[in-house]
Amino acid sequence: MAAERALLDVQDLRVSFGEGPRARPALDGVSFSVRPGKTLAIVGESGCGKSLTALSIMRLLPTPPARITGGRILFDRGDGPALDLASADRRTMRRLRGKDIAMIFQEPMTALDPVYPIGDQIGEVLVEHEGLSRKDALARAVELLRLVGVPSPEERARQYPHEFSGGMRQRAVIAIALACEPALLIADEPTTALDVTVQAQVLRLMRDIQQRFASSILFITHDMGVVGQMADEVVVMYLGQVVEEGPVSAVLSRPAHPYSQGLIASIPTLDMPRDRVLQPISGMVPPIGSITTGCRFRTRCPHAMEICRRDPPKVTTPAGNSASCWLVEEST
Ligand SMILES: Nc1ncnc2c1ncn2[C@@H]1O[C@H](COP(=O)(O)OP(=O)(O)OP(=O)(O)O)[C@@H](O)[C@H]1O
Ligand SMILES: [Mg+2]
Repeated sequence: MAAERALLDVQDLRVSFGEGPRARPALDGVSFSVRPGKTLAIVGESGCGKSLTALSIMRLLPTPPARITGGRILFDRGDGPALDLASADRRTMRRLRGKDIAMIFQEPMTALDPVYPIGDQIGEVLVEHEGLSRKDALARAVELLRLVGVPSPEERARQYPHEFSGGMRQRAVIAIALACEPALLIADEPTTALDVTVQAQVLRLMRDIQQRFASSILFITHDMGVVGQMADEVVVMYLGQVVEEGPVSAVLSRPAHPYSQGLIASIPTLDMPRDRVLQPISGMVPPIGSITTGCRFRTRCPHAMEICRRDPPKVTTPAGNSASCWLVEEST
């Protein structure tokens, strides 16, 4: 049986900052794939390269100093040959962005222009990519605002971003991202700036929308708790590399890599006494590019051994997750 087509297949992606001998590797052989209609979460602590991965796919890396130095980013809608986004030209990327691939950024204000009404900003995408008239685009913008749960959408469409609350702004940003019904939605910490109740609403909204449009979502978060609510599959990143990946159920219940185990141990649970201090992973994340050989996690790993100075093998466990760790090989 042929393997199911991946909508997005990232293969051995490498990104560096700077040039020549002073170049620092930031993404160091990142691979994963997102299947049609599924959600893949990328999780990891601050600075591990989650946003760099998203920006590479969108080809919105700050160049210079960052540049893609290797690998492929295959985007395959199933209606023609796959496109390699790593080498696609600007024109192709401009055509894809906002239409086939849309991104929701961490901070909603950066995605909204303060001087235009919200409805115009949603409509603009439809004028540009779908060739709608201004009038039709505005009508569709109102519909989209209604879809993402903004009350009184006709009035709201005429308002400016500063008249929206944080949660409403993020809904507006989601409406812009959804305007052209993209095959792939990249959401980079879409709820981090929101309070907990609003966060739950926005996550629910994203799940509903995914069902409705059958879109794929690449969901970026530093929160393992959110991964369990949102994703089918998860990729755990540390210092520019994937350390573990697999079905969410397998990774959450049987994390194989000590780093994933640490992230999961720091998820708060409802039945936990309020005064219990969560056990974060000890030590600080070293600067990206500062450890370039062996297991990058060895400086913080409670199980580090001499062999961890050598690059660890990728081992698939019986539960279906793959982890890059010498211990995992020993135990199977
Ligand atoms: N313009 C830049 N110049 C140099 N280094 C950079 C630049 N942008 C990002 N970096 C470095 O690249 C690394 C990865 O950054 P990235 O933004 O992908 O992290 P992240 O996983 O998204 O973190 P966060 O959870 O904080 O958003 C970081 O260590 C950061 O210091
Ligand atoms: Mg980020």
